[in-house]
Amino acid sequence: MNGKKINDSVLELIGNTPMVRLNNIGSGLESEILVKLEYLNPSGSMKDRIALEMIEKAEQSGRIKPGDTIIESSTGNTGFALSTIGRLKGYNVTIYETMPGKAGGEKEKMMKNVGAEVRLMEPEDIKGLEERSIAGSEVELPGRQLCLEDEKADPGIWWARQFSNEHNVTSHHITGQEILEQTDGRVDIFIQSIGTGGSLLGVAEVLKKECPDCKVIGIQPASSKELWHAGMDFPVTEIKGGIVSKLLKSGAVDELVRITDEEARGMTHRIWEEEGLYCGVSSGANVYFAMKEAQKADRPLRIVTLLCDHMNRYLTDERYVT
Ligand SMILES: Cc1ncc(COP(=O)(O)O)c(C=O)c1O
Repeated sequence: MNGKKINDSVLELIGNTPMVRLNNIGSGLESEILVKLEYLNPSGSMKDRIALEMIEKAEQSGRIKPGDTIIESSTGNTGFALSTIGRLKGYNVTIYETMPGKAGGEKEKMMKNVGAEVRLMEPEDIKGLEERSIAGSEVELPGRQLCLEDEKADPGIWWARQFSNEHNVTSHHITGQEILEQTDGRVDIFIQSIGTGGSLLGVAEVLKKECPDCKVIGIQPASSKELWHAGMDFPVTEIKGGIVSKLLKSGAVDELVRITDEEARGMTHRIWEEEGLYCGVSSGANVYFAMKEAQKADRPLRIVTLLCDHMNRYLTDERYVT
């Protein structure tokens, strides 16, 4: 998406995603809803940005070299992004896939297709999940414990640590700068679903600096066991906390809201049908709250959010995944 006629590698196509105004869903509203099409990144999600940045920073610091193994615990998008980019750069990639049910199997196949080793996990406590949404910060914990143990046992293994790696956040400073360029620096509200918190914090840090009055809203799945609020003390351990702890304390998030799967899925279908934008269910959650903000606005606002991943990974099981 960089405007070049010919690129030397798919890696040059990461980022610089287009922005679209939702003219059909948003018709009749005074405010405008602008969505950034992160699902058009090469592996189908915004996680290409963090995978490339985390790998390149680990290479530059001398922590990894081709032939080493990259490992991660993931509900799938980071796993697939690390698999494609890691394999292209000459690494072995092993992913603990933590998405329960059919969608986990689908993502397992995607990662295996590009040459990664996938260890499919359905931790006991999520097998019986009645609410179907998936909070990455919770379901990825057992996989993270295994990543930690693998890394300790072998110096040729590097755990990318998306939940705490600062380069997850800094890669989204670029996303924030792209948003400023695309909106000529005018954003009234930014909304994003929270998994690791990297995209929300990275974009928010840039927006709060350049448009300090911009309101930032973070979304948690309603099925999440932990109820977060801005300013809270979120526990930090070797496998927990990380960016989410920083995000909640940073003052970068003005409001935290929760959404049910039904609400997120309903809006996702509207985005497909009314706008022709083939995004996943967390994108529906984002637009659901963008609509709410637009409906209650007392002046025309510019509301920006992300369409995080592609619908193609939810064809057998429509989960709200963060
Ligand atoms: C589809 C989707 N939406 C939203 C998120 C949340 O992104 P982040 O990890 O940057 O908080 C994730 C990842 O966790 C995701 O895979």
